[in-house]
Formats: sequence, structure tokens, C-alpha cells
Amino acid sequence: MRHFLKMTDLSPGEILTLIDAAKANKGECSSALAGKSLGMIFAKPSTRTRVSFTVGAYELGGHIMFISEKEMQLGHGETIEDTARVLSRYLSGVVIRTYRQDDLERFASVAEIPVINGLTDERHPCQGLADLMTVSQLKEDLTRVKIVYLGDGNNVATSLASVMTMVGAHVVVCTPSELTLPDWAILEIRQLAAANGGKAEFLTDPSEAVKEADFLYTDVWFSMGQQRVPEKSRQLEPFQINADLLAQAGPDCRVMHCLPAHRGEEISAEVIDGPRSIVFPQAENRLHVQKELLKKLMNR
Ligand code: CP
Ligand code: NVA
Repeated sequence: MRHFLKMTDLSPGEILTLIDAAKANKGECSSALAGKSLGMIFAKPSTRTRVSFTVGAYELGGHIMFISEKEMQLGHGETIEDTARVLSRYLSGVVIRTYRQDDLERFASVAEIPVINGLTDERHPCQGLADLMTVSQLKEDLTRVKIVYLGDGNNVATSLASVMTMVGAHVVVCTPSELTLPDWAILEIRQLAAANGGKAEFLTDPSEAVKEADFLYTDVWFSMGQQRVPEKSRQLEPFQINADLLAQAGPDCRVMHCLPAHRGEEISAEVIDGPRSIVFPQAENRLHVQKELLKKLMNR
């Protein structure tokens, strides 16, 4: 059974093939998933992930069932494993958004249907695929791309750095020293860079990080489930993507954000709403790339 729980569940070659297909098949309406039902179990809110998977599966002729985790027996004491075994007998695939990556992996370990990570505290691989597609629409040679993530060392940063190093790009993850990526993520990203000809740097100085960058990328300072702590905002203030920081990057540098955005925190309104921002095509690409992922995993 093929799952997509983390970026390395696909090989670099498979990822690039998926991105090419997503570009070629944009807008596809077909019966690729006819007769199949996709479940979506979400323990956290979502706009993009929920709607893009719903529309994507619909355009491929599949049926979609959204289930809030709270409304399932799972939220009332039924085990993850029993839930996975039962749902495997009804559904042809499932997208799960939850807190712990371990819980997702427990589900997948007994599931007899493909399980897709719709975001955990540790990873957001579907976002990473859309990010790569967005970058590759602007830069043909990915091995010459420098992309800089600024802000909190989180799930989005991990998946972005994973996918970009897997295709041989240069990734800089720039965070306050107190908010770096966890050690396991840094190790994994360094190994991916070494294995695939990419380059990974972990810096704490935004001005140094953004030099000659082709893309700047940021995400919220407080991820879902995290408490808003004023001290963390103070630490992250110098990492805001604003006109000053953008002026220090490469001349054609574009700005990315997985969204939802908080203008005035991780990014200024002027930049996210300005001409260098590509956040909406980036969000659109979730739809295109996830349709290819659904076909690859569910249409077997
Ligand atoms: N980027 C992203 O995953 O957005 P949602 O939380 O709206 O799904
Ligand atoms: N890091 C954010 C991403 C939201 C799409 C979170 O986990 O809330």
C-alpha cells in the first residue's frame, strides 16, 4: 500500500513526474476516481487543503466525505487502529489532518487504503508539492534555485526544505536560534541535500540568508494548536518578510506563503499584496498537484 505521509514517501523522480503531470493536466475532469470514495478526517481547521482535495476528487469523478475528528468515535475513545481497519473497508483513500505525525503513522500502519498527510504538527508534504510546482513554473533549472524560508521552524518549513533539497535546489531555513527546526528535521534535510545534490543551510540572520534569493517564503508564527506567546512574536519580528528585507534579496525575488497569512506579523501587507507575491497561484497549485497524487495513489 502506497501512502503519502512524508515527502520521502515519493522519490525525487516520482515527485518531478507528478509536477509535470499537474502542469499538463490542469483543469482535467475525468472519471479516474469513478466509483471511489475519499474520506477526509480533520482534527484542525482548513480552507485550502479541505477545498482543494474536495474539488480535486470531484473533478476526477470520485465521491468525497468530510468528517471532523470530533464527530467520529475516534474522538470518543475508539482506537486509531480500529478506525483505520473499518474505514479501509468503506473508502478507497483517506486524507488526514491531525496533530501528531505518530498518530498518522499508526493509522497508516494498519490501513489497507492509501493515507495522505493533510498536515501534522511535524509535516505538510502536500503543501511542499504545490510549492515545488510553483517554483518550477518560474524556474526551469531547479538546481540553480535559492529559496529562503524565514520564521518559525515548523511543519511547512520541514516539508519545503525536504522537497527542494530532493530536487537539488539550495534551501536556507532562517529562524531565531530558539525556534530552529527540530534536530531530526535538520538531519533529514541535510541527508536529502547530500543524497540529491541539493544544499541546505540553517541560519539565524535574515539579511545574510536572503542574499541572492530567488524566493522568500514564510508561514504563520503560531501554528494551529500552539498558544500565542508574546515572547515568540518578539523573537520572530526581525524575520518578517517586508519591503526592506525583500530589497536585500535577488532582483527578481518572488514571495511565497502557504497561507493563511497574518499581515503585519510574518509578512507585511505591502509585500503579500504586492507584485512580487505569488501566494495565490501557489495556493491554486494545491488543487492541480493533489489531483495527480490522488490518481497515483488511489487509481491502482
Ligand atoms: N496551506 C494550507 O494547508 O491551508 P489550510 O490550512 O487552509 O488547509
Ligand atoms: N504551520 C501552519 C500551517 C498552516 C497551513 C500550521 O500548522 O498551522
